[in-house]
Amino acid sequence: QEDDFKKVISHAKEYGYVFQSSEIYDGLSAVYDYAQNGAELKKNIREYWWKAMVQLNDNIVGLDSAIFMHPTVWKASGHVDAFNDPLIDNKDSKKRYRADVLVEDYTAKIEAKIDKEVAKAEKRFGDAFDKKQFLETNPRVVGYQEQINTILKRLGKSLENEDLVDVKNLIEELEIACPLSGSRNWTDVKQFNLMFGTKLGASADSAMDLYLRPETAQGIFVNFLNVQKSGRMKIPFGIAQVGKAFRNEIVARQFIFRQREFEQMEMQFFIRPGSQKEWYETWKEKRMAWHLSLGMGPENYRFHDHEKLAHYADAAADIEFKFPFGFKELEGIHSRTDFDLGSHEKYSGKKLQYFDPELNESYVPYVVETSIGLDRMFLAVFSNSLVEEELDNNTTRTVLKLPAVLAPMKAAVLPLVKKDGLPELAQEIIDDLKWDFNVVYDEKDAVGRRYRRQDANGTPFCITVDHQSLEDKTVTIRHRDTMEQQRVAISEVKAIIHKEVDM
Ligand code: GAP
Repeated sequence: QEDDFKKVISHAKEYGYVFQSSEIYDGLSAVYDYAQNGAELKKNIREYWWKAMVQLNDNIVGLDSAIFMHPTVWKASGHVDAFNDPLIDNKDSKKRYRADVLVEDYTAKIEAKIDKEVAKAEKRFGDAFDKKQFLETNPRVVGYQEQINTILKRLGKSLENEDLVDVKNLIEELEIACPLSGSRNWTDVKQFNLMFGTKLGASADSAMDLYLRPETAQGIFVNFLNVQKSGRMKIPFGIAQVGKAFRNEIVARQFIFRQREFEQMEMQFFIRPGSQKEWYETWKEKRMAWHLSLGMGPENYRFHDHEKLAHYADAAADIEFKFPFGFKELEGIHSRTDFDLGSHEKYSGKKLQYFDPELNESYVPYVVETSIGLDRMFLAVFSNSLVEEELDNNTTRTVLKLPAVLAPMKAAVLPLVKKDGLPELAQEIIDDLKWDFNVVYDEKDAVGRRYRRQDANGTPFCITVDHQSLEDKTVTIRHRDTMEQQRVAISEVKAIIHKEVDM
């Protein structure tokens, strides 16, 4: 698993997808830059989301609110007081951990033991092995599972009660039971606020303390009435936006999974109080359907319903994805009640109510939100697509099987040789296609190597121009995933590509 993940990171760099920020200065931790291909892939994911959320729903509209907001916004939203992570330092190694993540690392060790038992039993029973039954009945596995549940339950309870002493005790007990950090010398657990502060204004005494927004959602809440009135929106309706968010994460690891600067794609859906359960279920389903529409395999997704809820929610679930390091949160669906709008009413002194003509009454709407990290979605798509394939002739090929709608380059046009007018015809084809898609020209190396380069780059089609093309105006079109080649008229190429890559 670790090796697979290393391959993902190095492939992302080698093929111009993701670079470490400020690399020539040895990088900045948990901050990344998206390069020529990465910027395109990211843009395509953003558009795929926007189309599904805004374009296809006549009751959802877009917004692009500022990153800077009035500081009271973050007081009202609860972020100043409650947007904390518990942190703990190891006095010997001088390493800093997020206490809850550290506890999860211990439970992952126990999970690994379960995996081992499963692998052993699979070997022993062969085809007759029933994994589900084994997980439910094998006494050792059931015991491990109970152990994990007990640990997580205790962690959840202590965090909820702000009993940080118990969180520390839990870590100390775990370190004795299944050593992980190799050291037992811990500091107390402290709460650490994740918001980045900055200042607005030139002179020191008039400067105003600001925060970089830790979620895009608040820009939607404070604009709720502006959008509702100017767009004459009727409840239920939604506001969607994509934008940067910033969090001073304590543990920065797992590449672009957890960054300090990242992009969110969020949608707040404003509804009648009392209808939140129904809308919460509806949005859980709709969002899962969106993920599945990309064809990355239903076995790679699962829901995780939260027991421990954020300060604003009355129900919450994650859509988890199978990343190279295991199932982890990709998207959150939260029933946020009237917490945010109600609180902004209180702090601003302005009414944030909607007059419902059908009920003939005014109320503060309830909200169900869907919130997905664009960078995390990028990692899900990229890591899932990268495969090493064994070929019939005992060689392997590296291929990035990106969903064609998301691929940065839709086609590569390759003249078989660099002479006889083939480059010129290839260029003509490019000049025609480039109004519709990103296409790339490549004439270097043997055509087989060029195919491999495009496979590794994720390009779904290679169009090869040969001598026959000059005579009968046909080319071969090669499909990345099947490696099948067809001879088609140049005039048909555009339609063939459109069919596969259009959103
Ligand atoms: N408005 C609700 C909200 O912000 P969240 O669960 O804190 O909820 C939503 O974040 C999504 O944003 C997560 O599911 C994840 O995909 C993404 N996200 C959160 N923190 C992130 C980070 N440090 N780096 C990358 N993505 C992150």
